[in-house]
Order: sequence, then C-alpha cells, then structure tokens
Amino acid sequence: MSRLPLHDRVILLGVSGSIAAYRAADVASQLRHLGAQVHVALTAHAAEFIGPVTFYALTGNPVLSGVFDEPYEGKIAHIHIAQQADLVLIAPATANLLAKMAHGIADDLLSTLLLATTAPVLAAPAMNSVMLAHPATQANIALLQSRGVRFIEPGFGVLACRTEGYGKLADVQTIVQAVVAQLTAARDLEGRRVLVTAGATREPLDPVRFLTNRSSGRMGYAVAEAAKARGAQVTLLSGAVAIPPPAGVEVVRVETTEEMLRAAQARFDACDLFIAAAAPADYTPERVARQKIKKGGKGETLTLRLRETPDIVATLAAGKSRQIVVGFAAETENLLAHAAEKLARKRLDLIVANDVTAEGAGFETETNIVTLLFADGRVEPLPKMSKREVADRLLDAAVALMQNAA
Ligand code: PMT
Repeated sequence: MSRLPLHDRVILLGVSGSIAAYRAADVASQLRHLGAQVHVALTAHAAEFIGPVTFYALTGNPVLSGVFDEPYEGKIAHIHIAQQADLVLIAPATANLLAKMAHGIADDLLSTLLLATTAPVLAAPAMNSVMLAHPATQANIALLQSRGVRFIEPGFGVLACRTEGYGKLADVQTIVQAVVAQLTAARDLEGRRVLVTAGATREPLDPVRFLTNRSSGRMGYAVAEAAKARGAQVTLLSGAVAIPPPAGVEVVRVETTEEMLRAAQARFDACDLFIAAAAPADYTPERVARQKIKKGGKGETLTLRLRETPDIVATLAAGKSRQIVVGFAAETENLLAHAAEKLARKRLDLIVANDVTAEGAGFETETNIVTLLFADGRVEPLPKMSKREVADRLLDAAVALMQNAA
C-alpha cells in the first residue's frame, strides 16, 4: 500500500481568534486524512469561536491552550511540541497574532510555541481588509517574510463585517495544498551529504587583533538549515558568528581561511554538494606578532605586509569527482561579469551573485537579492527574498544539477 503524502509528519496547527476559526477544523481533518499527526494550539479568542473538543475529536490529540497545560506527562508542552513539529501552520492568523510574532511577544501558549520552534512556519491570514492593508500589518508581514515565514494569500470576498475586500481566509484546499507542497517538496536531499561554509574568517595580526569582514553567517546558516529541512546530512564550517546554529546540523568552528580549507578538505570527498557561502579573508598578515603591537604615539604609520590565502572553493572544485560545487560572488560593481569570471576560473557548477551594495542584499541583512549563474550559461535573476528563501531556490537549482549529473 502506498504511503499517504503526509505520513507521520507532525503539524502544529495554531488557531487564532477570527470568525474563520471554524474552518480550521476542516483543515485539521484533511491534514489528518493525508497521514499527518496534527496538534492544535488554540488561543483564548479562538476558543470563543470553536471549542477544543472539536479539534480533539478530529485529530485524536489533546488540544493545547494554556501555557500551564501539561497534556504530555513529564514534558513541557510548548517546548515538546515546538521541537517535534515538522511544520507550524497558523490558520487563521489574525493581525494581532502576526504583530506578536513579528515582535517576539510570547504572552500565551501559541505565541510562546512560535518563539520556541525552529520548524518552518506557514501563515494563512484572515482579517478585515482595512486591518490587512494597515501599514503596521503590512510591515509585520514583510518582517516575518524576511525571516522566512511563508504566507498563504488571503482571498477577496464578503467579510464577517459585511464589507467586501481582501482578508478572507484562503480556501481550505489551498491551505492543505500549501502544507503538502511545503512538506513533500522538501525531502529531495534525503541521503545526501551537504557541506556548507558560512561567516567570516579571522586572520590574526597579534594576540588581540585580527583582519575580518562583515559576514554575519546568515546566508550560509540559512543554506545549512534549508538543506537539513530537505533531508540532507549537513556539516556547517563556520567562521565566528553571533547567530545560533540550525537544529540537527553538525557545526565545525574555524578561525582562519587556512583552517576552513583544512576542515573542508577533510570532508569534501564524502559530500555530494559543497556550498561556499562564507566570506573567507583573501589576505592574511605575513607574520603574526607574538606580543600586542604597541603604538608609537607619535602619529606614525604602520605598514602591514599581507599574503594571499588559499582559495577554498577553487581548491576543492579542482579535485571534484561527483560533487556539485556552488560558490557565491560578493560584488560591488559589474556584478554579472565578475560573477561569470569567478564561475569559470573556480570551476564551479553554479554561482550565486549578490551585489553587496544593494539595499536589502549581501552582508548582515535578513534578505538578499541574487542572480544564479550556471556553468552552461543560464542566468536566473531572483527578486528580493529572505535568505532562507534564497537558500531554497539555490538548493532547487543544485538538486536539479545533481539529478542531471546522475
Ligand atoms: O554572512 P552574511 O552576512 O549573511 O552575508 C552573506 C554573504 C554576502 C557573505 C554571501 O551572500 C556571499 O556573497 N558569500 C561570498 C563572499 C565572498 O567571499 O565572495 P567572493 O566573491 O570574494 O568569493 C567567491 C567565492 O569564493 C565564494 O563562494 C567564497 O566563499 C569563495 N572563497 C573566497 C575566498 C577564499 N579564500 N576562499 C573561498 O572559498
């Protein structure tokens, strides 16, 4: 017998207080029929529209509503479910809940769960059209999108307040299809090993100083997280960053470009896909002072002699066998020409070009604006999107290259 499309996938369905809350019962029921284990978290306002007994009967699981409810013996409910979930679906998502999500407010069980999960979040808004169009709501949606939350567009129609406009909860079928698409498309790296570099390296000058750059690691960490979510075994070679590592990913911390190269060389043969999102320092001081370099105090200049570091991605790509090798190009001018030159010189299969001077792109931002350049000459520009979405788009391209090479 063939397996159901959502066989054993754990879905946390968050229901917030809208008249459309009753339609969440149908969503829960359909997801369960597709094989999912559905856990429902109801806000107090949602419970005014539809009771927990309905969801209990439809899902077979205790319904979560209070922060102090402990339906699972010996486990803290919000942490347990937040960690178990493969996907969090919020349907309906009210303006108030979106505002709380955007600003990290955790004042009830559902908003606390949303802070405690690393699972992908899909939100289906439902509200009055004026509330939806309000700049505060639009800003909250944009902020959440930039952090990787995906939205199921609300529809147009007669709303509960008897006005016509946008804000109707999307059709139950549309919501269920979005869940299936999110959870099934995402397993195409099952059984594959993915090696990712991220963040900036540091090249010491003396015991207290180093040369580095602005890379926050966000882009590479998003790639590692997306590859993990698609079923890969992921190793992340990380320079110094201040962001938490994605769950379930092996993290190897390195300091210098030389160290990142050695760590990558030790793991390259075993990997199927290598993605170089790091910004390794291109130069390192010719000599590292053993003691802190003292300043003369007379306004003198200090000359540093630097030597080139090895090129990690080019070194590995030169010895590749079955691996697909993806690089990034961080450019400040002539984006496509410079990226194409790096693609060819470094023998890459794909390069992700970002103009790091553009607003919302490059270093430190939550979003990126990239163009994919393929070794066969194809060029695919992408609009501004969250780094997590960029990661998924580049993985779509890399998976296609892996399938073609097989
Ligand atoms: O970390 P974030 O703040 O999220 O910022 C993301 C980013 C801007 C760092 C990222 O999107 C990006 O562009 N990474 C590549 C940065 C870089 O070093 O670009 P490059 O054009 O100098 O290098 C080209 C490629 O060679 C890159 O894949 C780089 O990882 C690799 N390289 C570079 C130097 C070196 N010594 N070894 C390398 O492997």
